[in-house]
Amino acid sequence: MAQSRPAAAPWWRSAVIYQVYVRSFADGDGDGTGDLAGVRARLPYLAELGVDALWFTPWYVSPLKDGGYDVADYRAIDPAFGTLAEAEKLIAEARELGIRTIVDVVPNHVSDQHPWFRAALAAGPGSPERELFHFRPGRGPDGDLPPNDWPSQFVGSTEPVWTPLPDGDWYLHLFTPEQPDLNWAHPAVRQEHEDILRFWFERGVAGVRIDSAALLAKDPALTDLADAPDPHPFVDRDELHDIYRSWRTVADDYDGVFVGEVWLPDPERFARYLRPDELHTAFNFAFLSCPWDAGRLRASIDTTLAEHAPVGAPATWVLCNHDITRTVTRYGCADTGFDFAAKTFGTPTDLALGTRRARAAALLSLALPGAVYVYQGEELGLPEADIPLDRIQDPMHARSGGTDPGRDGCRVPLPWEAGAPHAGFGAQEEPWLPQPAGWAAYAADRQAADPGSMLALYRRAIALRPEFGDGPLTWLPAPEGVLAFTRAPGVSCVVNLADAPADLPGHTELLLASGPLDPDGRLPKDTAAWLRA
Ligand code: GLC
Repeated sequence: MAQSRPAAAPWWRSAVIYQVYVRSFADGDGDGTGDLAGVRARLPYLAELGVDALWFTPWYVSPLKDGGYDVADYRAIDPAFGTLAEAEKLIAEARELGIRTIVDVVPNHVSDQHPWFRAALAAGPGSPERELFHFRPGRGPDGDLPPNDWPSQFVGSTEPVWTPLPDGDWYLHLFTPEQPDLNWAHPAVRQEHEDILRFWFERGVAGVRIDSAALLAKDPALTDLADAPDPHPFVDRDELHDIYRSWRTVADDYDGVFVGEVWLPDPERFARYLRPDELHTAFNFAFLSCPWDAGRLRASIDTTLAEHAPVGAPATWVLCNHDITRTVTRYGCADTGFDFAAKTFGTPTDLALGTRRARAAALLSLALPGAVYVYQGEELGLPEADIPLDRIQDPMHARSGGTDPGRDGCRVPLPWEAGAPHAGFGAQEEPWLPQPAGWAAYAADRQAADPGSMLALYRRAIALRPEFGDGPLTWLPAPEGVLAFTRAPGVSCVVNLADAPADLPGHTELLLASGPLDPDGRLPKDTAAWLRA
Protein backbone atom coordinates (compact mmCIF):
# COMPACT_ATOMS: atom_id res chain seq x y z
CA MET A 1 0.00 0.00 0.00
CA ALA A 2 1.20 3.52 -0.70
CA GLN A 3 2.15 5.45 2.39
CA SER A 4 -0.04 8.26 3.60
CA ARG A 5 1.85 11.49 2.78
CA PRO A 6 2.05 14.67 4.78
CA ALA A 7 0.17 17.66 3.34
CA ALA A 8 3.32 19.06 1.74
CA ALA A 9 3.98 16.01 -0.45
CA PRO A 10 5.91 17.02 -3.58
CA TRP A 11 3.77 18.01 -6.56
CA TRP A 12 4.88 15.12 -8.75
CA ARG A 13 3.54 12.43 -6.42
CA SER A 14 -0.04 13.10 -7.46
CA ALA A 15 0.27 15.33 -10.55
CA VAL A 16 -1.83 15.25 -13.69
CA ILE A 17 0.70 15.55 -16.49
CA TYR A 18 -0.39 16.40 -20.03
CA GLN A 19 1.73 15.13 -22.90
CA VAL A 20 2.22 17.63 -25.72
CA TYR A 21 3.28 16.22 -29.08
CA VAL A 22 4.31 19.66 -30.36
CA ARG A 23 4.14 18.84 -34.05
CA SER A 24 0.43 18.03 -33.77
CA PHE A 25 -0.80 20.21 -30.92
CA ALA A 26 -1.49 23.64 -32.46
CA ASP A 27 -0.02 25.42 -35.45
CA GLY A 28 0.70 29.05 -34.55
CA ASP A 29 2.28 30.14 -37.84
CA GLY A 30 -0.04 28.26 -40.18
CA ASP A 31 2.61 26.19 -41.98
CA GLY A 32 0.91 22.87 -41.24
CA THR A 33 3.22 21.89 -38.36
CA GLY A 34 2.44 22.50 -34.71
CA ASP A 35 4.82 24.84 -32.89
CA LEU A 36 5.62 26.60 -29.64
CA ALA A 37 3.57 29.65 -30.67
CA GLY A 38 0.60 27.29 -30.96
CA VAL A 39 1.24 25.90 -27.48
CA ARG A 40 1.62 29.36 -25.97
CA ALA A 41 -1.69 30.44 -27.48
CA ARG A 42 -3.40 27.39 -25.98
CA LEU A 43 -1.99 27.66 -22.46
CA PRO A 44 -5.32 29.01 -21.16
CA TYR A 45 -6.98 25.82 -22.44
CA LEU A 46 -4.45 23.71 -20.53
CA ALA A 47 -4.91 25.81 -17.40
CA GLU A 48 -8.66 25.36 -17.65
CA LEU A 49 -8.21 21.62 -18.07
CA GLY A 50 -6.41 21.83 -14.74
CA VAL A 51 -3.19 19.96 -15.48
CA ASP A 52 -0.16 20.37 -13.22
CA ALA A 53 2.57 19.88 -15.81
CA LEU A 54 3.25 19.51 -19.53
CA TRP A 55 5.58 16.88 -20.92
CA PHE A 56 6.88 17.93 -24.32
CA THR A 57 8.02 15.17 -26.65
CA PRO A 58 11.40 16.18 -28.17
CA TRP A 59 11.34 19.73 -29.52
CA TYR A 60 15.03 19.91 -30.40
CA VAL A 61 16.69 20.34 -33.78
CA SER A 62 16.00 17.11 -35.61
CA PRO A 63 15.65 15.72 -39.13
CA LEU A 64 12.40 14.18 -37.76
CA LYS A 65 13.21 10.70 -39.03
CA ASP A 66 11.55 9.36 -35.87
CA GLY A 67 9.29 12.25 -34.91
CA GLY A 68 12.10 14.11 -33.13
CA TYR A 69 13.50 11.11 -31.25
CA ASP A 70 16.49 11.62 -33.53
CA VAL A 71 18.11 14.67 -31.97
CA ALA A 72 20.78 16.66 -33.80
CA ASP A 73 21.18 19.36 -31.13
CA TYR A 74 19.86 18.90 -27.59
CA ARG A 75 20.32 22.58 -26.75
CA ALA A 76 18.33 24.18 -29.57
CA ILE A 77 14.68 24.11 -30.63
CA ASP A 78 13.89 22.84 -34.12
CA PRO A 79 13.22 25.88 -36.31
CA ALA A 80 9.93 24.29 -37.41
CA PHE A 81 8.77 24.61 -33.78
CA GLY A 82 10.35 27.93 -32.74
CA THR A 83 13.42 29.20 -30.90
CA LEU A 84 15.09 28.64 -27.58
CA ALA A 85 13.99 32.10 -26.46
CA GLU A 86 10.41 31.10 -27.21
CA ALA A 87 10.78 27.86 -25.26
CA GLU A 88 12.03 29.89 -22.30
CA LYS A 89 9.01 32.16 -22.59
CA LEU A 90 6.69 29.19 -22.81
CA ILE A 91 8.23 27.60 -19.71
CA ALA A 92 7.81 30.87 -17.79
CA GLU A 93 4.29 31.61 -19.03
CA ALA A 94 3.13 28.10 -18.17
CA ARG A 95 4.65 28.40 -14.71
CA GLU A 96 2.72 31.63 -14.14
CA LEU A 97 -0.42 29.61 -14.76
CA GLY A 98 0.76 27.02 -12.25
CA ILE A 99 1.87 24.55 -14.91
CA ARG A 100 5.33 22.98 -14.79
CA THR A 101 7.35 21.80 -17.76
CA ILE A 102 8.93 18.40 -18.40
CA VAL A 103 11.30 17.97 -21.35
CA ASP A 104 12.11 14.72 -23.11
CA VAL A 105 15.77 13.71 -23.18
CA VAL A 106 16.87 10.97 -25.58
CA PRO A 107 20.09 9.46 -24.22
CA ASN A 108 20.24 6.10 -26.01
CA HIS A 109 20.92 7.50 -29.46
CA VAL A 110 21.41 10.71 -31.43
CA SER A 111 20.49 11.70 -34.95
CA ASP A 112 22.92 10.69 -37.67
CA GLN A 113 23.11 14.46 -38.28
CA HIS A 114 24.43 15.12 -34.75
CA PRO A 115 27.94 16.66 -34.93
CA TRP A 116 29.41 13.73 -32.96
CA PHE A 117 28.18 11.17 -35.45
CA ARG A 118 29.23 13.20 -38.48
CA ALA A 119 32.68 13.57 -36.96
CA ALA A 120 32.79 9.83 -36.27
CA LEU A 121 31.91 9.01 -39.87
CA ALA A 122 34.56 11.40 -41.16
CA ALA A 123 37.28 10.22 -38.77
CA GLY A 124 37.21 6.60 -39.90
CA PRO A 125 37.78 3.18 -38.27
CA GLY A 126 39.71 3.06 -35.03
CA SER A 127 39.37 6.80 -34.37
CA PRO A 128 38.53 8.23 -30.93
CA GLU A 129 35.46 9.87 -32.51
CA ARG A 130 34.04 6.41 -33.25
CA GLU A 131 34.44 5.37 -29.61
CA LEU A 132 31.44 7.54 -28.71
CA PHE A 133 29.27 5.07 -30.65
CA HIS A 134 29.34 1.33 -31.33
CA PHE A 135 31.38 0.80 -34.48
CA ARG A 136 32.64 -2.69 -35.31
CA PRO A 137 33.99 -4.51 -38.36
CA GLY A 138 31.53 -6.88 -39.98
CA ARG A 139 31.69 -10.62 -39.43
CA GLY A 140 32.36 -13.38 -41.94
CA PRO A 141 35.34 -13.82 -44.28
CA ASP A 142 34.38 -10.70 -46.22
CA GLY A 143 33.08 -8.70 -43.27
CA ASP A 144 29.69 -8.56 -44.93
CA LEU A 145 27.73 -9.91 -41.97
CA PRO A 146 26.51 -7.73 -39.09
CA PRO A 147 28.69 -7.75 -35.94
CA ASN A 148 26.01 -9.48 -33.84
CA ASP A 149 22.46 -10.85 -33.76
CA TRP A 150 20.67 -8.16 -31.77
CA PRO A 151 17.04 -7.56 -32.74
CA SER A 152 15.51 -4.17 -33.54
CA GLN A 153 13.72 -2.33 -30.75
CA PHE A 154 10.98 -1.41 -33.17
CA VAL A 155 8.79 -4.41 -32.41
CA GLY A 156 7.85 -6.18 -35.62
CA SER A 157 10.80 -4.76 -37.53
CA THR A 158 12.66 -7.23 -39.65
CA GLU A 159 15.42 -4.74 -40.42
CA PRO A 160 18.94 -5.15 -39.02
CA VAL A 161 20.27 -2.96 -36.19
CA TRP A 162 23.67 -2.62 -37.86
CA THR A 163 24.43 -0.52 -40.94
CA PRO A 164 27.64 -1.11 -42.93
CA LEU A 165 29.88 1.73 -44.08
CA PRO A 166 32.13 1.71 -47.15
CA ASP A 167 35.20 1.75 -44.84
CA GLY A 168 34.38 -1.72 -43.43
CA ASP A 169 32.91 -0.63 -40.09
CA TRP A 170 29.29 -1.19 -39.14
CA TYR A 171 27.45 0.94 -36.58
CA LEU A 172 24.76 -0.06 -34.11
CA HIS A 173 21.27 1.47 -34.04
CA LEU A 174 18.57 -0.25 -31.98
CA PHE A 175 16.00 1.90 -33.83
CA THR A 176 16.44 3.38 -37.33
CA PRO A 177 19.81 3.80 -39.12
CA GLU A 178 19.32 7.55 -38.59
CA GLN A 179 19.50 6.95 -34.81
CA PRO A 180 23.02 5.64 -33.98
CA ASP A 181 23.35 4.32 -30.40
CA LEU A 182 25.75 6.10 -28.08
CA ASN A 183 28.42 4.24 -26.13
CA TRP A 184 27.47 4.82 -22.51
CA ALA A 185 30.70 3.26 -21.27
CA HIS A 186 32.45 6.41 -22.56
CA PRO A 187 32.88 9.18 -19.95
CA ALA A 188 32.27 11.94 -22.51
CA VAL A 189 28.80 10.55 -23.22
CA ARG A 190 27.93 10.66 -19.53
CA GLN A 191 29.38 14.13 -19.09
CA GLU A 192 27.52 15.50 -22.10
CA HIS A 193 24.15 14.26 -20.89
CA GLU A 194 24.61 15.62 -17.41
CA ASP A 195 25.42 18.97 -19.02
CA ILE A 196 22.24 18.71 -21.12
CA LEU A 197 20.20 18.04 -17.98
CA ARG A 198 21.69 21.12 -16.33
CA PHE A 199 21.06 23.17 -19.47
CA TRP A 200 17.31 22.49 -19.28
CA PHE A 201 17.01 22.68 -15.51
CA GLU A 202 18.71 26.11 -15.74
CA ARG A 203 15.92 27.13 -18.09
CA GLY A 204 13.30 26.41 -15.50
CA VAL A 205 12.07 22.96 -16.43
CA ALA A 206 10.76 20.94 -13.51
CA GLY A 207 11.41 17.49 -14.89
CA VAL A 208 12.85 15.26 -17.55
CA ARG A 209 11.32 12.27 -19.29
CA ILE A 210 14.03 9.75 -20.14
CA ASP A 211 13.52 8.07 -23.50
CA SER A 212 14.26 4.33 -23.83
CA ALA A 213 15.68 4.51 -20.33
CA ALA A 214 16.46 0.80 -19.96
CA LEU A 215 18.49 0.47 -23.18
CA LEU A 216 21.54 2.73 -22.72
CA ALA A 217 24.06 0.26 -21.28
CA LYS A 218 25.40 -2.41 -23.62
CA ASP A 219 27.40 -5.56 -23.02
CA PRO A 220 30.94 -4.26 -23.74
CA ALA A 221 31.70 -7.39 -25.77
CA LEU A 222 28.47 -6.91 -27.80
CA THR A 223 27.92 -10.65 -27.37
CA ASP A 224 25.23 -12.33 -29.46
CA LEU A 225 21.87 -12.42 -27.70
CA ALA A 226 21.61 -16.12 -28.55
CA ASP A 227 24.88 -16.82 -26.68
CA ALA A 228 24.35 -14.56 -23.65
CA PRO A 229 20.67 -13.87 -23.03
CA ASP A 230 21.07 -13.33 -19.28
CA PRO A 231 21.93 -10.68 -18.32
CA HIS A 232 20.47 -9.28 -21.50
CA PRO A 233 23.21 -7.64 -23.62
CA PHE A 234 21.33 -4.34 -23.92
CA VAL A 235 18.12 -4.31 -21.86
CA ASP A 236 18.01 -3.44 -18.16
CA ARG A 237 21.71 -3.91 -17.47
CA ASP A 238 22.95 -3.26 -13.95
CA GLU A 239 25.36 -0.53 -15.13
CA LEU A 240 22.34 1.72 -15.75
CA HIS A 241 21.73 2.29 -12.07
CA ASP A 242 25.05 4.00 -11.64
CA ILE A 243 24.20 6.32 -14.54
CA TYR A 244 20.86 7.28 -12.99
CA ARG A 245 22.31 7.74 -9.51
CA SER A 246 24.62 10.28 -11.02
CA TRP A 247 21.73 11.96 -12.91
CA ARG A 248 19.81 12.14 -9.66
CA THR A 249 22.48 14.28 -8.05
CA VAL A 250 22.09 16.72 -10.96
CA ALA A 251 18.29 16.78 -10.63
CA ASP A 252 18.53 17.26 -6.88
CA ASP A 253 20.48 20.49 -7.41
CA TYR A 254 17.36 21.89 -9.09
CA ASP A 255 14.60 20.00 -7.31
CA GLY A 256 14.00 18.36 -10.69
CA VAL A 257 12.08 15.17 -11.29
CA PHE A 258 12.60 12.21 -13.62
CA VAL A 259 10.10 9.98 -15.33
CA GLY A 260 11.67 7.01 -17.05
CA GLU A 261 10.40 5.22 -20.12
CA VAL A 262 11.08 1.78 -18.66
CA TRP A 263 9.37 -1.10 -20.45
CA LEU A 264 10.19 -4.18 -18.33
CA PRO A 265 7.98 -7.17 -17.65
CA ASP A 266 9.48 -7.94 -14.23
CA PRO A 267 8.02 -5.68 -11.48
CA GLU A 268 11.02 -6.22 -9.22
CA ARG A 269 13.51 -5.20 -11.93
CA PHE A 270 11.30 -2.22 -12.80
CA ALA A 271 11.20 -1.00 -9.19
CA ARG A 272 14.99 -0.93 -9.00
CA TYR A 273 14.94 2.20 -11.17
CA LEU A 274 12.74 3.88 -8.56
CA ARG A 275 15.01 3.45 -5.57
CA PRO A 276 15.27 6.69 -3.57
CA ASP A 277 18.55 7.78 -5.16
CA GLU A 278 17.54 6.97 -8.76
CA LEU A 279 14.47 8.00 -10.81
CA HIS A 280 11.47 9.57 -9.09
CA THR A 281 8.91 7.87 -11.32
CA ALA A 282 8.55 5.64 -14.38
CA PHE A 283 5.70 4.99 -16.79
CA ASN A 284 3.37 2.17 -15.86
CA PHE A 285 3.20 0.29 -19.15
CA ALA A 286 1.75 -2.79 -17.51
CA PHE A 287 -1.41 -0.83 -16.66
CA LEU A 288 -1.45 0.77 -20.11
CA SER A 289 -1.26 -2.63 -21.81
CA CYS A 290 -3.88 -4.24 -19.57
CA PRO A 291 -7.11 -5.37 -21.23
CA TRP A 292 -10.48 -3.97 -20.13
CA ASP A 293 -11.15 -6.74 -17.64
CA ALA A 294 -11.92 -6.24 -13.96
CA GLY A 295 -9.74 -9.07 -12.68
CA ARG A 296 -6.76 -8.14 -14.84
CA LEU A 297 -7.04 -4.44 -13.98
CA ARG A 298 -7.31 -5.13 -10.28
CA ALA A 299 -4.27 -7.40 -10.43
CA SER A 300 -2.37 -4.73 -12.37
CA ILE A 301 -3.26 -2.06 -9.80
CA ASP A 302 -2.25 -4.35 -6.92
CA THR A 303 1.04 -5.30 -8.56
CA THR A 304 1.77 -1.66 -9.30
CA LEU A 305 1.17 -0.53 -5.73
CA ALA A 306 3.08 -3.49 -4.29
CA GLU A 307 6.11 -2.93 -6.51
CA HIS A 308 6.28 0.80 -5.72
CA ALA A 309 5.71 0.55 -1.96
CA PRO A 310 9.13 -0.80 -0.92
CA VAL A 311 10.99 1.97 -2.78
CA GLY A 312 8.58 4.71 -1.68
CA ALA A 313 7.98 5.94 -5.24
CA PRO A 314 4.54 6.99 -6.45
CA ALA A 315 2.91 4.95 -9.20
CA THR A 316 2.02 6.45 -12.57
CA TRP A 317 -1.17 5.68 -14.53
CA VAL A 318 -1.11 5.92 -18.29
CA LEU A 319 -3.73 4.88 -20.86
CA CYS A 320 -1.96 5.97 -24.04
CA ASN A 321 0.80 8.10 -25.52
CA HIS A 322 2.33 8.98 -28.89
CA ASP A 323 3.37 5.35 -29.46
CA ILE A 324 0.10 3.61 -28.51
CA THR A 325 -3.25 3.06 -30.23
CA ARG A 326 -5.72 5.72 -29.05
CA THR A 327 -7.72 4.63 -26.01
CA VAL A 328 -11.24 4.87 -27.46
CA THR A 329 -10.20 2.75 -30.44
CA ARG A 330 -8.36 0.15 -28.40
CA TYR A 331 -11.19 -0.32 -25.89
CA GLY A 332 -13.64 -0.81 -28.75
CA CYS A 333 -11.66 -3.72 -30.28
CA ALA A 334 -12.11 -7.41 -29.54
CA ASP A 335 -8.65 -7.36 -27.92
CA THR A 336 -8.66 -4.40 -25.53
CA GLY A 337 -5.05 -4.84 -24.40
CA PHE A 338 -2.10 -3.22 -26.12
CA ASP A 339 0.71 -5.10 -27.81
CA PHE A 340 3.00 -3.57 -30.45
CA ALA A 341 3.39 -6.98 -32.07
CA ALA A 342 -0.38 -7.34 -32.60
CA LYS A 343 -0.96 -4.07 -34.47
CA THR A 344 -2.48 -4.55 -37.92
CA PHE A 345 -4.39 -2.55 -40.48
CA GLY A 346 -8.16 -2.63 -40.40
CA THR A 347 -8.77 -3.99 -36.89
CA PRO A 348 -12.54 -3.54 -36.38
CA THR A 349 -13.56 -1.32 -33.49
CA ASP A 350 -16.81 -0.15 -31.93
CA LEU A 351 -16.12 3.50 -31.11
CA ALA A 352 -19.27 4.01 -29.04
CA LEU A 353 -18.28 1.10 -26.81
CA GLY A 354 -14.63 2.17 -26.73
CA THR A 355 -15.60 5.72 -25.78
CA ARG A 356 -17.85 4.53 -22.97
CA ARG A 357 -14.99 2.44 -21.59
CA ALA A 358 -12.44 5.21 -22.08
CA ARG A 359 -14.64 7.53 -20.04
CA ALA A 360 -14.83 4.96 -17.26
CA ALA A 361 -11.08 4.32 -17.51
CA ALA A 362 -10.42 8.07 -17.15
CA LEU A 363 -12.28 8.09 -13.83
CA LEU A 364 -10.53 4.89 -12.77
CA SER A 365 -7.02 6.17 -13.46
CA LEU A 366 -7.69 9.64 -12.02
CA ALA A 367 -8.89 8.02 -8.77
CA LEU A 368 -5.74 5.94 -8.25
CA PRO A 369 -2.84 6.98 -6.01
CA GLY A 370 0.07 8.47 -7.94
CA ALA A 371 0.60 10.62 -11.02
CA VAL A 372 -1.65 10.43 -14.10
CA TYR A 373 -0.57 11.11 -17.67
CA VAL A 374 -3.01 12.43 -20.26
CA TYR A 375 -1.92 12.37 -23.90
CA GLN A 376 -3.08 15.32 -26.01
CA GLY A 377 -6.43 14.54 -27.59
CA GLU A 378 -7.26 11.87 -25.01
CA GLU A 379 -9.34 14.54 -23.25
CA LEU A 380 -11.20 15.00 -26.56
CA GLY A 381 -11.81 11.27 -26.98
CA LEU A 382 -10.00 11.24 -30.33
CA PRO A 383 -9.97 7.85 -32.06
CA GLU A 384 -6.97 6.34 -33.82
CA ALA A 385 -7.01 7.70 -37.38
CA ASP A 386 -6.44 5.69 -40.54
CA ILE A 387 -3.60 7.41 -42.36
CA PRO A 388 -3.51 6.93 -46.15
CA LEU A 389 -0.53 4.72 -46.99
CA ASP A 390 1.26 7.40 -48.98
CA ARG A 391 1.08 9.83 -46.05
CA ILE A 392 2.48 7.56 -43.31
CA GLN A 393 5.73 8.97 -41.95
CA ASP A 394 6.40 6.81 -38.91
CA PRO A 395 9.46 4.60 -39.59
CA MET A 396 7.82 1.74 -37.68
CA HIS A 397 5.54 1.24 -40.67
CA ALA A 398 8.26 0.91 -43.32
CA ARG A 399 10.55 -1.07 -41.02
CA SER A 400 7.86 -3.68 -40.45
CA GLY A 401 7.79 -4.36 -44.18
CA GLY A 402 4.51 -2.44 -44.36
CA THR A 403 2.48 -4.72 -42.07
CA ASP A 404 2.44 -2.45 -39.01
CA PRO A 405 0.30 0.68 -39.55
CA GLY A 406 2.80 2.59 -37.43
CA ARG A 407 2.07 5.24 -34.83
CA ASP A 408 0.89 8.18 -36.93
CA GLY A 409 -2.77 7.30 -36.28
CA CYS A 410 -2.45 8.66 -32.74
CA ARG A 411 -0.42 11.70 -33.83
CA VAL A 412 -2.95 13.49 -36.00
CA PRO A 413 -3.13 17.30 -35.56
CA LEU A 414 -5.72 18.27 -32.94
CA PRO A 415 -9.15 19.72 -33.78
CA TRP A 416 -9.67 23.01 -31.92
CA GLU A 417 -12.51 24.83 -33.68
CA ALA A 418 -15.24 22.96 -35.47
CA GLY A 419 -15.92 25.77 -37.94
CA ALA A 420 -12.35 26.73 -38.83
CA PRO A 421 -10.10 25.42 -41.63
CA HIS A 422 -8.30 22.20 -40.59
CA ALA A 423 -10.60 22.14 -37.55
CA GLY A 424 -8.67 25.07 -36.13
CA PHE A 425 -5.29 23.32 -35.99
CA GLY A 426 -3.72 26.02 -38.15
CA ALA A 427 -5.00 28.59 -40.56
CA GLN A 428 -3.25 28.08 -43.89
CA GLU A 429 -1.37 24.98 -44.93
CA GLU A 430 -2.67 21.45 -44.94
CA PRO A 431 -1.60 19.76 -41.63
CA TRP A 432 1.50 17.54 -41.87
CA LEU A 433 -0.70 14.48 -41.27
CA PRO A 434 -4.20 14.47 -42.73
CA GLN A 435 -7.13 14.86 -40.35
CA PRO A 436 -9.80 12.25 -41.10
CA ALA A 437 -13.32 13.18 -42.20
CA GLY A 438 -15.46 14.10 -39.22
CA TRP A 439 -12.51 15.33 -37.14
CA ALA A 440 -14.24 18.67 -36.51
CA ALA A 441 -16.93 16.87 -34.49
CA TYR A 442 -14.25 16.31 -31.82
CA ALA A 443 -13.19 19.99 -31.74
CA ALA A 444 -12.37 21.43 -28.33
CA ASP A 445 -14.71 24.41 -28.78
CA ARG A 446 -17.66 22.16 -29.49
CA GLN A 447 -16.88 19.90 -26.53
CA ALA A 448 -16.36 22.86 -24.19
CA ALA A 449 -20.00 23.81 -24.81
CA ASP A 450 -21.31 20.27 -24.21
CA PRO A 451 -21.58 19.10 -20.58
CA GLY A 452 -21.76 15.49 -21.77
CA SER A 453 -18.48 15.64 -23.72
CA MET A 454 -15.21 13.86 -22.98
CA LEU A 455 -13.58 17.26 -22.41
CA ALA A 456 -16.21 18.22 -19.83
CA LEU A 457 -15.64 14.89 -18.06
CA TYR A 458 -11.86 15.41 -17.92
CA ARG A 459 -12.20 18.99 -16.69
CA ARG A 460 -14.59 17.99 -13.94
CA ALA A 461 -12.56 14.93 -12.92
CA ILE A 462 -9.26 16.81 -12.78
CA ALA A 463 -10.90 19.54 -10.70
CA LEU A 464 -12.21 16.94 -8.23
CA ARG A 465 -9.07 14.81 -8.19
CA PRO A 466 -7.41 16.49 -5.18
CA GLU A 467 -10.12 14.69 -3.15
CA PHE A 468 -8.28 11.46 -3.98
CA GLY A 469 -4.73 12.67 -3.23
CA ASP A 470 -1.65 10.54 -2.74
CA GLY A 471 -2.85 8.25 0.05
CA PRO A 472 -3.65 4.55 0.46
CA LEU A 473 -6.18 2.57 -1.55
CA THR A 474 -8.55 0.05 0.03
CA TRP A 475 -10.66 -2.36 -2.02
CA LEU A 476 -14.34 -2.57 -1.14
CA PRO A 477 -16.38 -5.75 -1.43
CA ALA A 478 -17.96 -5.82 -4.88
CA PRO A 479 -19.63 -8.33 -7.19
CA GLU A 480 -17.53 -10.05 -9.82
CA GLY A 481 -16.61 -7.71 -12.64
CA VAL A 482 -16.92 -4.60 -10.48
CA LEU A 483 -13.93 -2.63 -9.17
CA ALA A 484 -14.66 -0.63 -6.03
CA PHE A 485 -12.17 1.07 -3.75
CA THR A 486 -11.97 3.91 -1.25
CA ARG A 487 -9.25 6.49 -1.17
CA ALA A 488 -8.89 9.36 1.24
CA PRO A 489 -11.42 8.90 4.03
CA GLY A 490 -14.82 9.15 2.49
CA VAL A 491 -14.29 9.08 -1.29
CA SER A 492 -14.59 6.01 -3.43
CA CYS A 493 -14.52 4.95 -7.05
CA VAL A 494 -16.66 2.20 -8.56
CA VAL A 495 -16.18 0.85 -12.07
CA ASN A 496 -18.58 -1.67 -13.54
CA LEU A 497 -17.04 -4.03 -16.10
CA ALA A 498 -19.66 -6.76 -15.53
CA ASP A 499 -22.55 -7.43 -17.89
CA ALA A 500 -25.26 -6.49 -15.40
CA PRO A 501 -25.83 -3.08 -13.78
CA ALA A 502 -24.28 -2.81 -10.30
CA ASP A 503 -25.66 -1.33 -7.09
CA LEU A 504 -23.61 1.60 -5.84
CA PRO A 505 -22.22 1.27 -2.32
CA GLY A 506 -23.76 3.58 0.30
CA HIS A 507 -22.92 7.23 -0.30
CA THR A 508 -24.08 10.72 0.50
CA GLU A 509 -23.15 12.30 -2.81
CA LEU A 510 -22.49 11.19 -6.37
CA LEU A 511 -19.48 13.35 -7.21
CA LEU A 512 -19.15 12.36 -10.85
CA ALA A 513 -20.13 9.55 -13.20
CA SER A 514 -18.72 8.66 -16.60
CA GLY A 515 -22.25 8.09 -17.95
CA PRO A 516 -25.88 8.19 -16.85
CA LEU A 517 -27.03 5.83 -14.08
CA ASP A 518 -29.97 3.48 -14.60
CA PRO A 519 -33.44 4.84 -13.83
CA ASP A 520 -33.19 2.86 -10.57
CA GLY A 521 -29.86 4.47 -9.66
CA ARG A 522 -27.61 1.54 -10.57
CA LEU A 523 -24.28 1.77 -12.37
CA PRO A 524 -24.52 0.44 -15.94
CA LYS A 525 -21.90 -1.72 -17.64
CA ASP A 526 -18.69 0.08 -18.65
CA THR A 527 -19.47 3.03 -16.41
CA ALA A 528 -17.58 4.50 -13.44
CA ALA A 529 -18.68 6.70 -10.56
CA TRP A 530 -16.99 8.74 -7.86
CA LEU A 531 -18.84 8.81 -4.55
CA ARG A 532 -18.61 10.55 -1.22
CA ALA A 533 -19.63 8.40 1.71
C1 GLC B 1 10.62 5.81 -27.35
C2 GLC B 1 9.70 6.85 -27.93
C3 GLC B 1 9.39 6.47 -29.34
C4 GLC B 1 10.68 6.42 -30.13
C5 GLC B 1 11.71 5.51 -29.48
C6 GLC B 1 13.07 5.73 -30.03
O1 GLC B 1 10.03 4.57 -27.27
O2 GLC B 1 8.55 6.97 -27.13
O3 GLC B 1 8.48 7.36 -29.93
O4 GLC B 1 10.43 5.96 -31.42
O5 GLC B 1 11.81 5.76 -28.09
O6 GLC B 1 13.60 6.95 -29.56
